[in-house]
Amino acid sequence: MNNKKLLVGIVAAGLAVSLAGCAGGGGRGADSGSGSDSGDNAGALVGVAMPTKVSERWIKDGDAVKSALEDKGYKVDLEYADNKIPQQVQQVSNMITKGAKVLIVASIDGGSLSDQLDSAAKAGIEVISYDRLLTGNENVDYYVSFDNYKVGVDQATSLLTGLGLADADGKKVDGAEKKTIEVFAGSPDDNNANFFFGGAMDTLKPYLEDGSLTIGSGQDQFTQAATLQWDPATAKARMQNLIASTYSGGTKLDGVLSPYDGISIGIISALEGAGYASDALPVVTGQDAEAASVKSIIAGQQYSTIYKDTRQLADQSVVMADDILNGKTPETNDDKTYDNGEKVVPTYLFQPTIVTKDNYKEVLVDSGYYTEADLK
Ligand code: BGC
Repeated sequence: MNNKKLLVGIVAAGLAVSLAGCAGGGGRGADSGSGSDSGDNAGALVGVAMPTKVSERWIKDGDAVKSALEDKGYKVDLEYADNKIPQQVQQVSNMITKGAKVLIVASIDGGSLSDQLDSAAKAGIEVISYDRLLTGNENVDYYVSFDNYKVGVDQATSLLTGLGLADADGKKVDGAEKKTIEVFAGSPDDNNANFFFGGAMDTLKPYLEDGSLTIGSGQDQFTQAATLQWDPATAKARMQNLIASTYSGGTKLDGVLSPYDGISIGIISALEGAGYASDALPVVTGQDAEAASVKSIIAGQQYSTIYKDTRQLADQSVVMADDILNGKTPETNDDKTYDNGEKVVPTYLFQPTIVTKDNYKEVLVDSGYYTEADLK
């Protein structure tokens, strides 16, 4: 080999080594010892922080993540924080102290764990943001979620379909009767809430602009529609106020955009309390395909929900954690959408599905997400 070839070879090898150093997320794995040598981390502890058990989806998420990690031989510290931010801060701090090697975090307030993210980075612990983006800190290695903008588009599309303003493919129906709606949004400290509302409002915009759709109260801003901590009781109280202020004089309410099944239940409860018959409710949307809401859909009360297969999300977060712990770079499929204010976080996204009375069996039962008995 001549000298020139040898030099090229050395430079190429050096490049390969430095690229390998970058693998495993932000280049921290190599010098921290967190998984750059495969085999090191067999049986390692993984911390899994979930927001609350009030909503059934997070219980499914937590259970699925835990069992998939255990199947791979890891130890798991799974904690729920009862929707209390200080409790979650404490839980994540404890996971770091206990020597977790990877953290999988579904936050309550995406911006509240910055000190913990800094400590994790110092200790060489990699962090996977689960479903909800951790914001305002560069020490977030990966994000796994659903296409949250598309969730909002789907919510609005099902609202339009239920109102007869669009067909099943989301195409505008010409000459349809004008409709009046109200819109609700999720929690302002959850990055997803903006994506859901943004996707939904972009989809409703042409209908609002040409007058085929009106928001009766005029409350069309995120800040007006938001529901702190996704709380059903807060949504119920807002719906009661809207009924009193806007719909007590005979104006007909035809539909309500709701971003989450728990909020939908609050909205429906306010409507029934105000005298709406349960077989003649406005079209109400939702999200998460929670059993109570699927039952409500089957009974003809809630109109739709958005199904997000939490098994997919859980499995992918575990694949990512396992890759990290084996010194591999996890696969991502969206490296541009999720800017957390400090960095664009490499993301793996799944696709949501609209569920109504027409397809719940095929989507939820045939896939094994629920048994028929779960929905009785
Ligand atoms: C999740 C939704 C859920 C909501 C309330 C969001 O971050 O993406 O699936 O409905 O939180 O728990």
